[in-house]
Amino acid sequence: MEQFEAYLTAHLPLSPSFHPHYEAALHQMLKGGGKRFRPALLLGVVRACNPLLLSGAHAVALAIELLHTYSLIHDDLPAMDNADLRRGIPTLHKTYDDVSAILVGDALNTYAFEVLSNAPFSDKVIVKLVRELSSNGGLNGMVLGQAIDCHFENTPLEIEQVKMLHIHKTGKLIAASLKMGAIIVGRDELANQLYDFGIDLGLLFQIQDDILDVTQDSNQAGKTTQNDQAKNSFVTLLGLEKSMEEADSLASKLTQQMESFDESLQRELSPTLTHYINRHKE
Ligand code: IPE
Ligand code: IPE
Ligand code: MG
Ligand code: MG
Ligand code: MG
Repeated sequence: MEQFEAYLTAHLPLSPSFHPHYEAALHQMLKGGGKRFRPALLLGVVRACNPLLLSGAHAVALAIELLHTYSLIHDDLPAMDNADLRRGIPTLHKTYDDVSAILVGDALNTYAFEVLSNAPFSDKVIVKLVRELSSNGGLNGMVLGQAIDCHFENTPLEIEQVKMLHIHKTGKLIAASLKMGAIIVGRDELANQLYDFGIDLGLLFQIQDDILDVTQDSNQAGKTTQNDQAKNSFVTLLGLEKSMEEADSLASKLTQQMESFDESLQRELSPTLTHYINRHKE
């Protein structure tokens, strides 16, 4: 992912202004040590199917990471999860103020689509990519998940509703990352297959995140943990043991499905997938 980090650093241009910390705030969370899981998925698909398109795909991977980073900055605000630590550093509203965090989030959300519009692919492909990122990250995707997550604090939901919540707030953007890789390489059927796989992968990723909220301290996680007591998290509703069982069973299902991928996809994706599919077991 070194090439991705270099691409990211080179693509954060800002017009000079007399704002004392706008630029620093914009850069801080993006460079703060995220796992880059979504870019790794997208780039893995492109590398497997058409490595000649890999370099151009970095713009698309960056667009996803920008939108994801905006979602984290807003997620941590006092009005949402009220968290002090993110990616190993204080959250933006802690370092600066709420206004800065809200506006940096807004800027990253829109800049994602600017970056995507400049990706070196045909207009047709770019429109498809814009559709995926906006529909999975926006009003019927991540944002709906976040709205449900925050509205139903201290109101226990049914487990099927929590799965819907997790699929929206986390699963859809992860599924879109895989699908957008397949769109870049012109593989429509694979795009749909990877999307379905990505929904389960994203559900697992959020169940693991719920588990890590109780099993890791903030230092280990690089973000505020022990923070889900009021949430409809898997652990809050089912307890740690049952949540681990759910994660184990999804992990086995995904591992099995991964083994049916064609050889090049397995080669490029399985190091990332195997690591993340099993991360709750560490
Ligand atoms: C955190 O996402 C929020 C969730 C959707 C669980 P990540 O765990 O991918 O966070 P970073 O990008 O590594 O900081
Ligand atoms: C957030 O879920 C999902 C987002 C869309 C940002 P969480 O609230 O559980 O994520 P963390 O634990 O703060 O990273
Ligand atoms: Mg949250
Ligand atoms: Mg949170
Ligand atoms: Mg969490």
